[in-house]
Amino acid sequence: MSALPKDQLGYRRMAPDDLATVADLERSLYEFPWSKGNFRDSLEAGYDCWVACDGPRVIGYAILMVALDEAHLLNIAVAAGWQNQGIGRAFLEHVLGVAREAKCQIVYLEVRPSNAAARHLYRDMGFQQIAIRPGYYPARGGREDALFLGITL
Ligand SMILES: CC(C)(COP(=O)(O)OP(=O)(O)OC[C@H]1O[C@@H](n2cnc3c(N)ncnc32)[C@H](O)[C@@H]1OP(=O)(O)O)[C@@H](O)C(=O)NCCC(=O)NCCS
Repeated sequence: MSALPKDQLGYRRMAPDDLATVADLERSLYEFPWSKGNFRDSLEAGYDCWVACDGPRVIGYAILMVALDEAHLLNIAVAAGWQNQGIGRAFLEHVLGVAREAKCQIVYLEVRPSNAAARHLYRDMGFQQIAIRPGYYPARGGREDALFLGITL
């Protein structure tokens, strides 16, 4: 693990030049990753695409889709070597702040029931379960449900 002093953690909007790095990180973190094209489409669609940085190094990313007064967090991730030191929590707070500034009243997301770390973080931040989306995710040997969560801002 790389210990990162909090004042070294920064956020900025994702740029086209980040796509390769973000897609590499995504492949290292998910068994069923988004493609580089999925990230490019998100940028081109005008979604709120952010990266978290340790100095110049991209160590996380988040994609937020804002629609009127609602937002959907489509992806958030922190590089494996930087996990479990509060960066995910701080980054999520930043993203919720972006949603608040956009005058959103609620932020939704999906999470796998098997994703214990993410579920812990979301519950701790105040997200509540709204529904289960059956067979939402690809999974080895079949599909996995999604927990559909929301937080009012
Ligand atoms: C989810 C994720 C973004 C969290 O990032 P992070 O920087 O590790 O987050 P934090 O360090 O702020 O918090 C992690 C919390 O999960 C807890 N945690 C870690 N592993 C856990 C596990 N297996 N079971 C339960 N809790 C766990 C940590 O103890 C910490 O909680 P605490 O602050 O109460 O101690 C990161 O794990 C990740 O990128 N995972 C891969 C991508 C992913 O699954 N994204 C979410 C998709 S919905």
